[in-house]
Amino acid sequence: MKVKSHKDRQISHSSEALQVDFAALAAETMHRCDLLAEYTEEPGRITRRFLTPPMRKVHASLGEWMQAAGLMTHIDNAGNMIGRRSSSTGKRTLLVGSHLDTVPGAGRYDGVLGVVMGVALAQALGDAPLPFHLDILGFSEEEGCRFGEPYLGSSALAGSFSPAWLDRADAKGTSVRESLTAFGCDPNHIAKCEYSAADVIGYVEPHLEQGPVLELAERSVGVVNAIVGQSRVTVEFLGAAGHAGTTPITGRHDALVAAAEFVAYVRRASLKVEDLRATVGKLEVSPNAPNVIPERVSLSLDVRHQQDSIRESSLDELLAEAKNIAQREGCRFSILHSADQSAVAVDTGLTKVLTEAVSEVAGPPLSLPSGAGHDAVVMAQRFPMAMLFLRHPGGISHSPEERVGAMDVAVGIEVLVRLIHRLAEIHNPKNLATESA
Ligand code: HGY
Ligand code: MN
Ligand code: MN
Repeated sequence: MKVKSHKDRQISHSSEALQVDFAALAAETMHRCDLLAEYTEEPGRITRRFLTPPMRKVHASLGEWMQAAGLMTHIDNAGNMIGRRSSSTGKRTLLVGSHLDTVPGAGRYDGVLGVVMGVALAQALGDAPLPFHLDILGFSEEEGCRFGEPYLGSSALAGSFSPAWLDRADAKGTSVRESLTAFGCDPNHIAKCEYSAADVIGYVEPHLEQGPVLELAERSVGVVNAIVGQSRVTVEFLGAAGHAGTTPITGRHDALVAAAEFVAYVRRASLKVEDLRATVGKLEVSPNAPNVIPERVSLSLDVRHQQDSIRESSLDELLAEAKNIAQREGCRFSILHSADQSAVAVDTGLTKVLTEAVSEVAGPPLSLPSGAGHDAVVMAQRFPMAMLFLRHPGGISHSPEERVGAMDVAVGIEVLVRLIHRLAEIHNPKNLATESA
């Protein structure tokens, strides 16, 4: 089947039943991502962590766009921004969204693009009646960069928020509880954020692929078939401080030498196990002075694999070697914090409808796993989940070099519109009545 070039299809589509100019919507969506990129904790680079001051500006702009698209907006007790398009006939809700927080020095599309595409979806739907509510979600914390706990926002919606997280403190000693209160949220009523499984048709997350697969396959979009599991551990090597000039090399208990040996070992070990991704991304040295032997080093270890058993055994092996290294260097080794997330399967039914919607717009889609974690991981614990990936140059992400093509965003928005139309058919009371008859 000859697939028309997107350009032709787009013109033909915009004149077809949909009567939507997807190119214009995509341009507006990307411009909005540029505007939100200005809201940062650090002038000169994009850093927007959980409920930091720039998040208020994001909510103000996003709220305006959502309201202009006919959505009723509110911020829930976990700091999530929610825009609702109500149905006059249906009782259940379809959730579409992603996260609004970023890593330090982020790109302008990771997370944010999925939320703003959700607003474009609402715009494209106009006032067409739907047999379900449509909630566009902007999650408050997916990256876990402020408190070391990812998915705080989506966990509140999926009913898996742990009260213990409220006492986790950031580098300045501010707790989650204090940051929620300061933002105007009520940490004592996080449970009010929950959606019940019975009320939700499913959760769909549009997101950059954050990898090279779609670009290499020359596809605009792809459909996710699984999300890898991940373990995030913070460990500590504790040696002995000493004078850099007077302490002989032999007999030192240098925590940074131990940590450095471990970091090199993590890389060697990762190369031995197919598809294992183990990364040390954060390292803190104390007292961190040029003329003092490092006493203490804490570092992060991020281990991911599609198969939980391989991830778990690889993590155990890495930690066992860390203990051996610590012993050799006369240091103490301890695990300060760990968070595990099992690999997650997508919902086959919802993913099938998404696949059909992609086929309508861009031909039969590529199906691929996600090496990155997403709010979809948490939402899948309670709701049917599907993810749409967008191609982007080099698959570069978690970097200011992150880019995306307007045409691919246009394809993504059109796919979401067609997904909604298909789901509206499926959930149309007429069809549901005949189905159950
Ligand atoms: O780390 C991740 O995979 C995601 O970007 N939070
Ligand atoms: Mn990210
Ligand atoms: Mn993301």
